[in-house]
Amino acid sequence: MKKRILALALSAAMALSLAACSGGGDASGSGSGSGSGSNSGETKKVGLSMPTQSLERWNRDGSYLDEQFKSAGYETIITYSDNDTNRQVSDIQNMIAEGVDLLVVAAIDGEALNTVMNEAGEAGIPIIAYDRLIMNDNVSYYVSFDNYTVGTLQGQYIVDTLDLNNAEGPFNIELTAGDPADNNAGYFFQGAMDVLNPFIESGKLKVVSGQTDFDAVATDKWDTSTALDRAQTVLASYYADGTQVDAWLCSNDSTALGVAQAIESDYTGSNQPIITGQDGDEANLKNIVDGKQSMTVYKAVANEAVVTLDLGKAILNGETVDGSLIENAGWDFDCSYDTESYSTSEGHNCPSFLLVPDVVTKDNMVEKLVDTGYYTQDADGYLHPAA
Ligand code: BGC
Repeated sequence: MKKRILALALSAAMALSLAACSGGGDASGSGSGSGSGSNSGETKKVGLSMPTQSLERWNRDGSYLDEQFKSAGYETIITYSDNDTNRQVSDIQNMIAEGVDLLVVAAIDGEALNTVMNEAGEAGIPIIAYDRLIMNDNVSYYVSFDNYTVGTLQGQYIVDTLDLNNAEGPFNIELTAGDPADNNAGYFFQGAMDVLNPFIESGKLKVVSGQTDFDAVATDKWDTSTALDRAQTVLASYYADGTQVDAWLCSNDSTALGVAQAIESDYTGSNQPIITGQDGDEANLKNIVDGKQSMTVYKAVANEAVVTLDLGKAILNGETVDGSLIENAGWDFDCSYDTESYSTSEGHNCPSFLLVPDVVTKDNMVEKLVDTGYYTQDADGYLHPAA
């Protein structure tokens, strides 16, 4: 039933956007190249710059964004930059040269796009930072999930599952964080640590490796085999004597995959540690069904794309954008307008639209992911993204 609501919202959003774009004529569009998107007689062009296809979620983001902007009557250019910052710079430069009217960018490295963002700014092209903030004041808006809350949900899951408020403990934990170049990674880790730290300080939780600094536990490019390698080293160095690991905080699913693999191959204990994650990637949902991962923080990226489309339309139509976009859009999911939490430089806050993440476990995955229409379930109980 939820699926129908979402589908209705989508088609309503699309109908509205088509109406909004009706002055824009057909989609055969030879893009104007004017850059400002103010020429209502021509189909407007949207550049969608995604980081990579090697991490599952960006394929979903890319196709949702592409489909939705196209259905709304826009021309799109979509690129995936193979996690290579230089390539993302040149992909965006090409979009600017192609005369896009709006840029939607999920940055590989939040600090490395400075020059090209300045070039976009000089060309008068509005920029939406998608999911990951870019540290440049030409960014007009930020659309993401509440990144800090993602981390608190992971930390709270560990607190609740180990019953840290009542159990005597102590329990052993290890930590794996994300890519330092990704502005989100620090928020995820901080959110989780703010929940876990009181228990670490009281001694109820023990980080046996002693590795608690973000830099020590970060995972370059969110890479699964990098997370696997570090987990193997930690297990060999601190747990080979039979010490039990009770929980392993992982900031997302690609890193959780590596840690779960290390637990399977290199851990000598008999318990299955709690392993957290984020995204609801297919392989991780399988691990959750199989008991190798405990939870994932799910972020409905289809909704993130809906917000980006409605925001993009408003910008391209020259409307003043603020929190009223949320009331006017009437989405069937929660989103807040936040002008304080994120800044692109000291003292320069970036108005943000933040969606709400949700905890998915083996017990609620059918309700949260299948009944809502995002995934289908096969006869073995495994979930697959709905076509
Ligand atoms: C996203 C996460 C994702 C990670 C790796 C982050 O910026 O917010 O959802 O797991 O990148 O792709």
